[in-house]
Order: sequence, then structure tokens, then C-alpha cells
Amino acid sequence: MIYTPKQRALMELWRTNQLRRLNLLEGSVSSGKTWVSLVLWAFWVRSMPQTGLFLMCGKSLTTLKRNCLLLLQELVGETNFYFSTSAKEGVLFGRRVLLEGANDIRSESKIRGLTLQGAYCDELTLFPQDFFVMLLSRLRLPGAKLIATTNPDTPRHWLKTDYIDRADELDFLDVRFLLDDNTTLPRDYVESIKREYVGVYYERLILGRWVIAEGLIYRDFANNPDKYTISDVKTWLMKQGRRLGTVTFGVDFGGTGSATKFQCTGITGDGVVIALEEEYIDHHKESVDPDALNKRFAAFINRCTAKWGAGITRADSAEQILIRGLFNTAQTQGLRTQVKNALKMPINDRIKLTLLLMAQGRFYVSKECPYLINALASAVYDDKKPVDTRLDDGTSDIDSLDAFEYSIEPYYKQLEAAGHTRD
Ligand SMILES: Nc1ncnc2c1ncn2[C@@H]1O[C@H](COP(=O)(O)OP(=O)(O)OP(=O)(O)O)[C@@H](O)[C@H]1O
Ligand SMILES: [Mg+2]
Repeated sequence: MIYTPKQRALMELWRTNQLRRLNLLEGSVSSGKTWVSLVLWAFWVRSMPQTGLFLMCGKSLTTLKRNCLLLLQELVGETNFYFSTSAKEGVLFGRRVLLEGANDIRSESKIRGLTLQGAYCDELTLFPQDFFVMLLSRLRLPGAKLIATTNPDTPRHWLKTDYIDRADELDFLDVRFLLDDNTTLPRDYVESIKREYVGVYYERLILGRWVIAEGLIYRDFANNPDKYTISDVKTWLMKQGRRLGTVTFGVDFGGTGSATKFQCTGITGDGVVIALEEEYIDHHKESVDPDALNKRFAAFINRCTAKWGAGITRADSAEQILIRGLFNTAQTQGLRTQVKNALKMPINDRIKLTLLLMAQGRFYVSKECPYLINALASAVYDDKKPVDTRLDDGTSDIDSLDAFEYSIEPYYKQLEAAGHTRD
């Protein structure tokens, strides 16, 4: 096992008995936190009494397995660590290790009665604070320790305000890792990771800073809309030698004070996203009944599919009656689309995806979509909120953003993976 200098320094703290009760490894993505935290955890658990009970938790059991359990097994071998996620238990060097997902609604009550010797937390900022408070109260054997990893978040996050900022008062060790600390990664790979993040995410995930999300969400887009705008998509595609592999539709239904938005988006075979066509129905200006809405939808789908080809429609799932109207319209009129519920991923994940595409030069919008262009250029964070929140007070066109995001979110994994130069 070869450590990076940063990792070696951490292992040295352990060897010289300088770990604290709470030990946090925080900082940039891919900086080697998880890897060394598991080595440290394994060594430390092995040094503790056989009788002690240990707990490992992630946001969910699935992410815990994917991020940590499989790697831990690789690091120490299957005889020294074996586990079952269905039994939610494992054995590490003969010590019993419980496995838990922190965002399970019942998880806090599950750990309530326990007495733990040690706990490991993966991606701690994603845990509910209640769960963490309960977890700390369970660490009640002599020498009990917590080892956790996380990326930075907003400085208003409970982990920052209640623990990191109070490290001096608490028995708390905070070790900060940067991407450049991970000397095991090839330089060009490190450079490509750095190019994947912009704005607040660059500051947090690359520079490792706890900063608030404020101001324009798509700053570069707002400052240089022309860089992202295409006036004639067909010609552009031909010149680029690119083809659309996927056509996809997003629908956001508006109430009386809002708008209904249809968005048609294309994705090329090599993962470039192009917002192609839109229809914006302003409910302030025109009152639209479900029947009229269905007609407008049919006309939009016919216009787009004739030009770009067939595709699936994802519509805001909060409006089941309206969705059924679109579904039936598509069936009875033989539209070249199938209407499904939108996935409605967390808004911050959708924002991350669009920012990633923009950062990598994989996002374009046709000038046929003026509402979307305006919505992207004016989207801002609500800096009064304690967590990252997109401002939704009627001053910006959230309907256009939602409809666009519904259209691309089903392809999240593929789009994210298409940007990686090394996999
Ligand atoms: N000492 C090491 N030897 C070999 N590979 C390592 C070492 N340290 C880290 N790596 C590898 O580097 C990559 C990034 O490390 P790791 O996953 O620990 O980063 P991280 O800081 O937890 O990142 P994130 O914040 O994205 O979770 C992984 O592929 C990991 O296996
Ligand atoms: Mg990690």
C-alpha cells in the first residue's frame, strides 16, 4: 500500500495517538479521503476490543456499498471484511459492524439504543443532523471514535457551524485534502476533473472551500449567451459532423399565475445537449383549459417530431390529471411520443448537470428558445436560505428551467459519464 504524502501524514497522526474522538477528512473531490479513511478505519477497528460494536453509514446503503464497502473489502481482503447489505451487517477483523443508510426515515430510531465503539460516515454533509446527533450520543465506550469524510458545502451547513467552526471546543480533528494532494492520479486526469466544475461547485469541490451559493447560477451563460446559442441547428450539426441520437420532451404545467412550458431537446451521440424548440403558454395572458392544452401539446409534438424525430415526453408528475390528458392525446392522435412522469430529481442535482454540460462545452440552445435563454441567464440563488436554493419568487422563469431539466434528467448518468475522459 502506497500512501500519498497527505495520507501518510494522517496515518502518522494515528500511529502517534493524535486522533481525536471526532475525525473529519474534508475537501476536494478525488483527493484520496475515502481511500485513506478506510485504511485508517480498518487499522483502528483492528486495534480495538473484539467485543465492541461498530457502525458504518452512508447517505443510503447503496451509496455506502458503492463508495466504501467494496473498496474496504478490496483493501483488506474478503477474509478480513465480509458483509451483507440485506442483513445490514458485516465483520471487519472479527469485529461486528452494523451498516446503515442515514436518510432512511427510520434510521435515527434504529441506532437509538446502541452503544458503539466506533462509527464511520461517508459523505457526512448529506446526513440529516438529527441522525448525526444521535450517532454521537451512541459513541459512549472509552476511546470511541468517529471517522468521517465529506466535501465542503455551504458555510451555513450544520456540520460547519456546529462542529468544524467549534473544533477547538470539541474533541475534533479536521483534516483538509485538496485534489492536488492525490498524487496517485495522472496529471491530465486531474486537469480534466478541474474542468468539470464551475462557479460555486468549483470553489467547493475543487478548491475545497465552504462557500455560499449566491448570485447568478449560470454566470458564464449570463455573461456570454452567444457562446451557447445556435441560430441554425441543422446547419450547425452538419458542419460539426454530429447527429442527434435522442430527442426528448419536457413539460411543466403552470397554475393560473404561472406558465405552461413545453421543451424539445436533442442529445447527440457524443453527449452534446441542444435545446431545440419551445412553447411557452403564459397563463396571465391566455386562459387555457385542459382541452386547449392538449391541442397545443399535439401541435408542438407534431412540429418537433417532423423536424427532429420521435422521443419520450416527461411531464411534471404533480399534475396527474393533466398528464393523463397529454397521454391520451398522444395515444388517440398517434403522436410520435410517449408521455411519462418526470423524474423530478433534486434541483441542485439538475443544476449540477447543466453546469457540467456548460463547463465542458456540451450545452447549446437554439435561438428558437428565447424563453429558455432568458431563464438560464436570469436564474439566481436565494442567498437568504440556509441551504443552496434556486430563487423561485416569480421574478425568474422557473417553468422554462423545469421543463428543460425534465427533458434531460432521464439521461443524467449517460451525460455525466460522456464527459469523463478516463473511466
Ligand atoms: N494511496 C492510494 N493508492 C491508490 N489509489 C488511491 C490512493 N488514494 C486514492 N486513490 C484513488 O484515487 C481516487 C480518488 O480517491 P478517493 O475516492 O479516496 O477520493 P475522495 O477524496 O474520497 O473523493 P470524493 O470527494 O469524490 O469522494 C480513487 O480512485 C482512489 O481509489
Ligand atoms: Mg469519497
